[in-house]
Amino acid sequence: MDKASTDSYPDRFMWGVSTAAYQIEGAVTEDGRGPSVWDTFCAEPGKVADGGSGAVACDHYHRYREDVALMRELGVDAYRFSIAWPRVVPGGTGEVNAAGLDFYDRLVDELCEAGITPVPTLFHWDTPQALEDRGGWLVRDTAYHFADYAASVAGRLGDRIDQWITINEPREVTLLGYALGVHAPGRTGMFEALPAAHHQLLGHGLAVQALRSAGAGQVGIAVSHSPTWSAGPGAEDTEAAAAFDTLNNWLFADPLLTGAYPADFAELMPVQDGDLAAIGARLDWYGVNYYGPTRVGAGSGESDEVDGVPVPEGLPFSFPPIEDVPQTGFGWPVVPGGLTEMLLTLRERYGDRLPPVMITENGCSYADAPDAAGRILDRRRIDYLDAHLAAMRDAMDKGVDVHGYFLWSLLDNFEWAAGFEQRFGLVHVDYESQARTPKESFHWYARHIAGSRG
Ligand code: BGC
Ligand code: BGC
Repeated sequence: MDKASTDSYPDRFMWGVSTAAYQIEGAVTEDGRGPSVWDTFCAEPGKVADGGSGAVACDHYHRYREDVALMRELGVDAYRFSIAWPRVVPGGTGEVNAAGLDFYDRLVDELCEAGITPVPTLFHWDTPQALEDRGGWLVRDTAYHFADYAASVAGRLGDRIDQWITINEPREVTLLGYALGVHAPGRTGMFEALPAAHHQLLGHGLAVQALRSAGAGQVGIAVSHSPTWSAGPGAEDTEAAAAFDTLNNWLFADPLLTGAYPADFAELMPVQDGDLAAIGARLDWYGVNYYGPTRVGAGSGESDEVDGVPVPEGLPFSFPPIEDVPQTGFGWPVVPGGLTEMLLTLRERYGDRLPPVMITENGCSYADAPDAAGRILDRRRIDYLDAHLAAMRDAMDKGVDVHGYFLWSLLDNFEWAAGFEQRFGLVHVDYESQARTPKESFHWYARHIAGSRG
């Protein structure tokens, strides 16, 4: 018997799946697309685990009809995908490439015909290289260029799109891309990366204004959240965990939901007049990406990586593993209760300032391959999803207003620095033949969605 019973979901609860442009589209030089920081990063030897790149990925650019048909079979209400900025504005600023927008026009039409609500994210990490050459998110201008791009997209697609997501996970771009250099653009600025956080948040705020002036219905953002667990009960550990929690969760959520940075960071951010009002403008919903909790203690040197990310020397934190829980293919801890905890913490911290929540990402990597009969029996993914949906329901029962759930991901795809080794899809992709095979979890999710509709 599945834990996540399907009764008593609110009537209009939105079931969906998520993807991102660079992870699935391929076609990186077609129809005038300009290079992004990820094209550049992948070309540098040693940056991506298997030497892979998004140059072909799932070839979704040419196979989107087949992928929309899969979603129709799955029975989702909505599809969260991302629009590649370098397709729309190849130089990052200036000329808009109509041919790039044509692709999203076709995709959106195909979705609407299938009765699936398109929910685009405007930035899922593929900064145009031309902007990175001028400093990328470390410089303020990038936020304004982003808002101009948002306006161009809304001008073309706004007649068919009601729900928008500005930016995906500003924390990861700041931390992994600008502080640690394990993601594009590969900069290792450590605390000098902080302006990248502020400028993405400012870009978000300016894009919200641009989208609303263009008549957008509902606007949100997708922020990664991970409950921080202290390694031990002592003051040193709990203080270290609290400091890490601020960096990991509140540095991004506080300005968005209260219009102010946490006190420890306020002085370090290049804030100008009006920025915080734009960043803190009321959102129609708040997107939460949840994968698992993080265990943090004082000291350093005891752990050289956390969730596959190398921990630099000299940080005042240690990351002891979370023991006695299952792990995903990535080695990430499987802790469904962490999702309930995170949602309740958000509700407690922000009260009525927290708009309705969307789970914009949740999922797991397991590299299950087809068996002799060609079936992919990914039981561990089903267990993960079942338990996380039950955990979400638990939070809803306790008063958190959750409006939708977008599973990461529809397809196995290019998992950034981990290349193609980590498979997050409900649908298996054979990267040689591009054959798509729905896994057992696909059929499970389809039944779950259908069941929730009674
Ligand atoms: C986070 C994810 C993140 C991953 C890699 C996980 O703990 O929850 O959002 O992408 O680590 O840093
Ligand atoms: C990102 C996705 C990524 C997923 C799994 C999130 O951090 O938004 O692009 O594939 O986690 O790592």
